[in-house]
Amino acid sequence: MTNTTRFDFDRAADYYDATRGFPPDVIEPAMALTAAVGALSADHDLLEIGVGTGRVALPLSPRVGSYTGVDLSTRMMAVMDGSTHSIRRAQADATRLPFATNTFDRALASHIFHLIPDYHNALAELARVLKPEGLLILVLGGVARPPEVSEALSGTRGKRPGVSFTDMFTFLLDYGWEPVAEAQHVTFTAPVIPADAVRSVRGRHWSGLWERSEEEIEQAAQTLEAALRAAYEDIEEPVAIEGEFSARAYRYASSSNV
Ligand SMILES: C[S@@+](CC[C@H](N)C(=O)[O-])C[C@H]1O[C@@H](n2cnc3c(N)ncnc32)[C@H](O)[C@@H]1O
Repeated sequence: MTNTTRFDFDRAADYYDATRGFPPDVIEPAMALTAAVGALSADHDLLEIGVGTGRVALPLSPRVGSYTGVDLSTRMMAVMDGSTHSIRRAQADATRLPFATNTFDRALASHIFHLIPDYHNALAELARVLKPEGLLILVLGGVARPPEVSEALSGTRGKRPGVSFTDMFTFLLDYGWEPVAEAQHVTFTAPVIPADAVRSVRGRHWSGLWERSEEEIEQAAQTLEAALRAAYEDIEEPVAIEGEFSARAYRYASSSNV
């Protein structure tokens, strides 16, 4: 299968975990929260769409019976090679899942719906492959980043092709999904070197920067560096930054939209 997305994450495989990984102290609380929100159990078969490097899959997989991940990017999934955790993997598009109807007890999506233009097709596929009593778990966050980054990059980041992050926990209500409960959150602080964000801009570490010109990237890097220098005494020294990890579960209740 060829990777047809505008955002081909093969290019991100080498730096993704270094720039998106959970701070070590957050992994267990975040996975415990996800397991509780999704009422996970050891006899569940779970499917994650857009599994990537296994940032969620690797620490969450011991909490279920079987963990299957699909992704368009084989290079992202190859980062899991050699892991002692057992993740079944398939290169597949979330809008055309290669699984039979009523296969999974749980599905999970983390940081993927903003990348899928026809996300309603992915939702329809999840409704199809989940068992009738199954749950879809959406998770978001887990990375601490200086607040200056979003503001400095707001004019430079390209528009996301799929769901905006602000709609992430509500967009699927229009497609026949009902939340099981309110979203749950874990907040944390982690040491962050502010200047790393400037290096990430120059390295185009966020997909929203991949299509920007060299001039736009350099302008954004300089704007961000100035904002960080104004906020922090030494931008090469770690500072404590707040982050949040959130999870919410949904049940498919049918709708004419899907
Ligand atoms: C931002 S990464 C998130 C990876 C992982 N879920 C996490 O939270 O770290 C998005 C992933 O979704 C994958 N992806 C994007 N569109 C996809 C699609 N239509 N079907 C399957 N995977 C897709 C990308 O290849 C990439 O690995």
